[in-house]
Amino acid sequence: MYVCICNGLTEARVREAARESGERHSAKAVYRHLGCEARCGLCLPHARRLIAEDGDAAFNAGALAARA
Ligand code: FES
Repeated sequence: MYVCICNGLTEARVREAARESGERHSAKAVYRHLGCEARCGLCLPHARRLIAEDGDAAFNAGALAARA
């Protein structure tokens, strides 16, 4: 599914770039990592949610592993 039509970015690509860059808060920073930038900006709220969800999932996985 596309997140950003202006840049042709899919959810998978945004999630992958967030993991590669280690960015967990800024969609604009993830876009920069991909060599592009927000144009209309309509995608930014959804992109931020994706990045935050992945960051939360990674944090929770780490917390569970630390308990084991
Ligand atoms: S849809 Fe992403 S900048 Fe326009």
